[in-house]
Amino acid sequence: ESTTELDISSLEAGQSVKAVFRKQPVFVRHLTQAEIEQANAVNVSSLRDPQTLEERTQAGHGNILVVMGVCTHLGCVPLGAQEGENKGEFGGYFCPCHGSHYDTAARIRKGPAPSNLAVPEYQFTSDTTIVIG
Ligand code: FES
Repeated sequence: ESTTELDISSLEAGQSVKAVFRKQPVFVRHLTQAEIEQANAVNVSSLRDPQTLEERTQAGHGNILVVMGVCTHLGCVPLGAQEGENKGEFGGYFCPCHGSHYDTAARIRKGPAPSNLAVPEYQFTSDTTIVIG
């Protein structure tokens, strides 16, 4: 199976879910308005890997963030996709292996990781269905 289909109809704002794509974890997050505002308040040119939230989401679905759950440092699985997990200092994801902090757009903000969590290829096949790959 080269694609992963996900039903996100029950994913509420503020929740993330873990899926698997090509044997690697994928995090799907339904961003809250506050998380979107937090991401958009950042001066993009100050970022290590400068990208806007808009560039990391799809038109019409700017509140759904889909990223690979693979730290860009040495490949650990970051925390933050499950209830109660440490989301790090910037409210997104936190890699406990060597302390990389990702923000609400899963952009690297602190720690050794060189780049943002990767956005895989995916598309919405309905308002609540995502096909990754
Ligand atoms: Fe994530 Fe090193 S593997 S910080």
